[in-house]
Amino acid sequence: MKTPEELKETVKEKYSEIANQSKEENAVSCCGVGTSCGVDYTIFSEDYTKLKGYNEDADLSLGCGIPTEFAQIKEGDTVLDLGSGAGNDCFIARELTGEKGKVLGLDFTEEMVNKARINADKLGFNNVEFRKGDIEQMPIGGDSIDVVVSNCVLNLVPDKTKAFSETFRVLKADGHFSMSDVVLKGELPEGLKNDAEMYAGCVSGAIQKDTYLKIIKEVGFENISVQKEKAVILPDEILKNYLSDAELLSYKNEEFGVFSITVFGQKPACAPDCCC
Ligand SMILES: C[S@@+](CC[C@H](N)C(=O)[O-])C[C@H]1O[C@@H](n2cnc3c(N)ncnc32)[C@H](O)[C@@H]1O
Repeated sequence: MKTPEELKETVKEKYSEIANQSKEENAVSCCGVGTSCGVDYTIFSEDYTKLKGYNEDADLSLGCGIPTEFAQIKEGDTVLDLGSGAGNDCFIARELTGEKGKVLGLDFTEEMVNKARINADKLGFNNVEFRKGDIEQMPIGGDSIDVVVSNCVLNLVPDKTKAFSETFRVLKADGHFSMSDVVLKGELPEGLKNDAEMYAGCVSGAIQKDTYLKIIKEVGFENISVQKEKAVILPDEILKNYLSDAELLSYKNEEFGVFSITVFGQKPACAPDCCC
């Protein structure tokens, strides 16, 4: 069993390799890392090509939703993207904040940060910044961000309570987040969980949806809502190896399985110990 630090090193190694591959290579390789084991890592990802601000070089098909669609970003906002990769969601957010706003991308994989910076330079943006750092300990001042977005990242972070506590700390009072992520519902047979990881990636670090929402509440967020939910459809050939006919039916009825969700949460306007 790996320690949290070892897990993070594995994640960094994987995304260093992905940063150096094309979108096409990621689509046909194992978890995007160049060996061939039939994984379609892009199974979760949405079509970004029609979105305003879309930048092809930043799109590595690594997301599992479109958080900016739900994030209510306004002109002039300061937006933070957690696990920004090559900058895909940052450039969409920049379209929404305009020149008066600011977009900050945070990622702990050096190669991703470098790639994102090259993309921003090519676009000539001076209000999009990419910073290297860990989501569990963000190098970002408190009460400084209007909107936090994130796309398919927190499932990779070992301490999700720390990740959401840090999100709470950096947000301004009344600020909010909209994050897309992978979660589980119900107990998946261990073999099926392993095969789902092999098939789609992003599953091994995912936690139960209820636990995920409970953490967000315990950290202090309010107005929590699931803005979008989509089941990840695994092929019958995989499912039949692990599920009885009755279980297969309940899987198809989405009573358990792997889901991509987009979640919203708001930092209260007033601190609990303060009057305002
Ligand atoms: C699945 S990719 C998603 C990238 C990007 N959000 C997108 O949709 O294209 C996950 C990204 O999160 C970063 N990441 C994972 N854990 C992190 C952590 N603890 N702190 C900072 N970045 C992290 C990885 O380096 C990687 O670039």
